[in-house]
Amino acid sequence: MDGYAAAAQYYDLLHAERSAARASALLAAAGSEVTHGVLDLGAGTGSVLAALAAEVPEVPIVAVEPSVGMRTALYARLAADPALRARTTVLPENAERFAVAEFADLAVCLDTSPAFPPPYRPDIWERVHNALVPGGLFLLDEPRLTEPVVQQPRELGRATVGTHTVVGSVRGEPAGQRQWWEYRYTVLDAEGEVVSEAETEFYTWPVTPEELREELTDAGFVVKDALDVGGPVLQARR
Ligand SMILES: C[S@@+](CC[C@H](N)C(=O)[O-])C[C@H]1O[C@@H](n2cnc3c(N)ncnc32)[C@H](O)[C@@H]1O
Repeated sequence: MDGYAAAAQYYDLLHAERSAARASALLAAAGSEVTHGVLDLGAGTGSVLAALAAEVPEVPIVAVEPSVGMRTALYARLAADPALRARTTVLPENAERFAVAEFADLAVCLDTSPAFPPPYRPDIWERVHNALVPGGLFLLDEPRLTEPVVQQPRELGRATVGTHTVVGSVRGEPAGQRQWWEYRYTVLDAEGEVVSEAETEFYTWPVTPEELREELTDAGFVVKDALDVGGPVLQARR
């Protein structure tokens, strides 16, 4: 099942500006030179990789993205930018399955890693480690949820499209060890009447910062201080 099917059509409208700006700010804050390649795990619609591509040399980029919906937007972005298309390879699979040999000196995984089920995480970190050249840097979010909690409904953002307004909102509930999320997208007309409504639900797995650091260390990374750019981001160096 494609958990992002309903979200994909609205993702860039509501999130691309923020995720691109965050990626650029992170690259600057990390101060790490990129001369080999870039791996983007959970690349979504490609806003992060496009922002990074604009600021690093003409190195190859590998985008791992399992959702057909998100990949549709990603391929549309690549179709509109021949230079980016020439250097970006899209792997239509999840982080649990992708495999690329040592090619990158930067790997990013933003707003994605809580979706990785705990039993698979050590293997995923190893795959990222294998994708990096020695000294390569892996940037991923510091865990925000260390245990499942009730998330009161909140608006994520809104964007106007012609005479319509797209409104995104989210709510969440604990579900055993997991966190259940529901994302809702409502399109309103100029009078505020609902034109369409779609929701999607999925689960994430809370983890403590200590557990995550330990897993990364076990995979061979040296974990450094988090960068605080739109939320803390761990730096793990191969
Ligand atoms: C919130 S979006 C973030 C996209 C992008 N990284 C950004 O910051 O804009 C999360 C993405 O992770 C992808 N994803 C979910 N589970 C995944 C998995 N197991 N392996 C790889 N990607 C996954 C989803 O399909 C979705 O595109």
